[in-house]
Amino acid sequence: MAALLEARGACAGYAEIQVLAQVDVAIPAGSITAIVGSNGAGKSTLMRALAGLLRLSAGAIRFDGADITHHPAHVRVDDGIALVPEGRLVFPELTVADTLRIGAFLPRARRGWQDRAESMYRLFPRLRARRDTNAGRLSGGEQQMLALARGLMSMPRVLLLDEPSLGLAPAMADEVFGVLRDIRDQGVTIGIVEQNVYAALAIADQAYVMEDGRVVSHGPSKQLIDDPAIRTAYLGL
Ligand SMILES: Nc1ncnc2c1ncn2[C@@H]1O[C@H](COP(=O)(O)OP(=O)(O)OP(=O)(O)O)[C@@H](O)[C@H]1O
Ligand SMILES: [Mg+2]
Repeated sequence: MAALLEARGACAGYAEIQVLAQVDVAIPAGSITAIVGSNGAGKSTLMRALAGLLRLSAGAIRFDGADITHHPAHVRVDDGIALVPEGRLVFPELTVADTLRIGAFLPRARRGWQDRAESMYRLFPRLRARRDTNAGRLSGGEQQMLALARGLMSMPRVLLLDEPSLGLAPAMADEVFGVLRDIRDQGVTIGIVEQNVYAALAIADQAYVMEDGRVVSHGPSKQLIDDPAIRTAYLGL
């Protein structure tokens, strides 16, 4: 499978701190690709670099065969890259319905936004029931679903998710993971960072393991699940 979104030799960090050290990650079109690793490994930093929220000090970001290293974040949204950041960030005073509507603010996403909102309600029936409720009153799981749905309203070609299951009860997390498969099957490529390594490997087609700003392992999820080093370090097995 050809890579839809990739980082090549990406180096990036904050002020004088270098975090990403020559990271190569390729997210193939139509895949779910997981990025896992311990706290502080640089997973969120990589997501920000892919979404254009953080500039590279060296290396490149490529999307659909083009070099987008110098595209700022808003241009990358227009390119078709949507990031649902860690900690879901929904506007508490906006209703569910309004949140979905503003998710479709891009010119190319405006047309047909109502149909798309309808398909979000089919994907997340809980949101339909709460469409006139302010986002700030939703449960954590519902807010996560809303953040995901808002990301999808921009009609992305690749959806980047940073810790979508964080703070969710297991049943709610399972619901979110189930929906990710449906989204992938509808043709949206997914890059996902997860603390829950087992769940991430269970839904992903392939995964990268990061340590200390570097990729230390990469392969099909099934292979990583069976890897003794991964099992000991990340799966507690
Ligand atoms: N805004 C920031 N300013 C300075 N340093 C930061 C900033 N954000 C992250 N860092 C540092 O960069 C390193 C990588 O952080 P990052 O958030 O990418 O890790 P992570 O793999 O997402 O970790 P976690 O699993 O805890 O979310 C850490 O050492 C962190 O302290
Ligand atoms: Mg993080």
